[in-house]
This record gives sequence, structure tokens and C-alpha cells, in this order.
Amino acid sequence: MNYSMIAEQIRALCAVENGWVPVFSNASAVLFQEMPDVSWAGFYVEKNGSLLIGPFQGKMACIRIPHDKGVCGSAYAKDTVMLVRNVHEFPGHIACDAASNSEIVLPIHGKTGIVAVLDIDSTSIGRFTEEDREGLLQVVKVFEECVDLNI
Ligand code: SME
Repeated sequence: MNYSMIAEQIRALCAVENGWVPVFSNASAVLFQEMPDVSWAGFYVEKNGSLLIGPFQGKMACIRIPHDKGVCGSAYAKDTVMLVRNVHEFPGHIACDAASNSEIVLPIHGKTGIVAVLDIDSTSIGRFTEEDREGLLQVVKVFEECVDLNI
């Protein structure tokens, strides 16, 4: 996967319009198209004490996720990347899509702390690797550097 190219593509989109809705919308489309074997790619944004669904590609999903629930909530609460090989073995996993088997969630930081998380799912067990973690961290860095994260 050429994550540097994806990161630069998103940086270019951001240079045109840096609002979080346009950037996250196009970023979810780019990630969903470019990453093989992905069933859902999108964002949950921090809103009034829980994570609210943001721009995404894939099947309809849960609207609100409490800060301490599921893989997304754990990434938020622990402020760390969650790379889950088999979501069915993850305590508290929220099964928005019963076909999902593995997942990676990365926190996105604004001035006030975590403002959103990037969530990518796959129907394959063990789909996400260290390479994906490193590559997606480059993409998150672009969000943190050039998106207006006043959500
Ligand atoms: N499975 C996630 C919920 C969001 S959906 O996968 C889109 C979780 O446990 O946080």
C-alpha cells in the first residue's frame, strides 16, 4: 500500500478546502477505494461526550459510541491506535456490521485533545498490520496538520 501517496492526495484536497466535512468525506472515499479488502472506512467525531458518526463509506453504522465502548471508544479512552485482529475476541466490540471481523482505529488530535477517530473495518480476520498502522498514522498526521478540526 502506498500510504505516502494517499497522504499527499489528502494534503492536496485539504489545500483546496480544509473544512473537516469535505476533507473527511473525500478521505473516506480515497481510503475505501484504495485499500483492498476493506468493508467500511470513516470517522466518528467527538460531540457532547460521545463519538458521533461522521463521513464514511460502507454500510450504515452505529450513530453514537460512548467514549469507553467498543474499539472506537477504547482508542479514544486510551488515546492509542487500536489494531484488532479479530473483533469477536475484543471485549465490548460494537457489531455495527455482523460481517466485520477485523478493525483498526486511530485517534485524531486537535488543540483540545482527541476530536475524532478514523475507523477502518474488514471482513477478513487479521486484515490490518503494522504497515497499515504506520501508513495510516501518516494520513492522520495530515489531518492534524491541515484540517480545520473545530468540530
Ligand atoms: N465496531 C466499532 C463500531 C463502529 S463500526 O465498526 C463502523 C467499534 O467496536 O467501535
